[in-house]
Amino acid sequence: MLTLGIETSCDETSVAVVDSGSKTLSNVILSQSVHTKFGGVVPEVASREHVRTIIPIYKQALEEAGVTRDQIQLIAATMGPGLVGPLLVGLSFAKGMAWGMEVPFVAVNHMEGHLAANLLSQPDLDDNHLTLIVSGGHTMLVHVRSFGEYEILGRTVDDAAGEAFDKIAKVMGLGYPGGAEVDKLAKQGDRTYERFPRAMRHHEYRFSFSGLKTAVAQYLDKLSAEERDKHLPDIAASFQEAVVDILVEKTVKAAKEKNIRDVTISGGVAANSRLRELMQERLTRAGKRFFYPPIQLCTDNAAMIAAAGYFRFQKWGATEFVVDAVPYLPLD
Ligand code: KG4
Ligand code: ZN
Repeated sequence: MLTLGIETSCDETSVAVVDSGSKTLSNVILSQSVHTKFGGVVPEVASREHVRTIIPIYKQALEEAGVTRDQIQLIAATMGPGLVGPLLVGLSFAKGMAWGMEVPFVAVNHMEGHLAANLLSQPDLDDNHLTLIVSGGHTMLVHVRSFGEYEILGRTVDDAAGEAFDKIAKVMGLGYPGGAEVDKLAKQGDRTYERFPRAMRHHEYRFSFSGLKTAVAQYLDKLSAEERDKHLPDIAASFQEAVVDILVEKTVKAAKEKNIRDVTISGGVAANSRLRELMQERLTRAGKRFFYPPIQLCTDNAAMIAAAGYFRFQKWGATEFVVDAVPYLPLD
């Protein structure tokens, strides 16, 4: 079933064509660069950029997939969580297209899209699995009993992991969004250089990153310009280790305690090289299987939305056209 996926929840305009939730035919992603000069996403600017680019991106997605409009059998779009203006652009476009083409339409939860990136790319993955969703706006550990049946074991009480990466990147002068830059810089550093705090270690599956962010920012403040330049890669690596260590520790603990064999990570921070490495190491040691999506399916993209839309349609059919954008849409 050829599914057209549309994702516009934040600052990526993305359209994809996916066959039956398992084969990506195209996945065009345009990251809006206009926000860089503001050091963060400006919602109104993002909405206007989505309006300006969605049709050319849609045409490119069909062309790259080598399909025509009348071959599309299902249209899926993100309805939340995200920024309301940007969400409305993609959702309205999807509804209009589905109405005009007389094909079913499915509204998708962005977080379900993230976890579905693994269903799309990992055919071996068990329906029943544990997933750590780590993005710019969310950090949560979820027991997926089957597609659509979720138990949220824990989440962050303050900043999301990606938010911490972005804030530290900013104070280090690495630009926005800076997670990938911190990852790159950390590769040249010593992760044992400084031990930054691991928060909420004994609080079940809850996470906290705001204290760590402050600790690293204050640490950097106290350094001379010379020391800072010399040790920036070491500090980046030590900060990254503190984030990754706690994410991995709680995920392994949940997999063991809940007796879940398969574990996945998803969301933008799942692209982090050290997170992938340490998860693999500790999960293998615990006798668990570890899966993660290719990098282009970790950060926001429409292929994951098309996949989630397809699985949703298989289980529950189409969504009514009256559905609206919901900025704080919960996963469960
Ligand atoms: O899932 P995503 O694209 O958007 C949201 O739904 O939020 O995640 C974006 C987040 C940003 O905070 C970005 O800095 C972070 O993912 N990110 C990374 C890496 N690549 C992207 N964080 C750490 N290491 C990376 N390699
Ligand atoms: Zn996302």
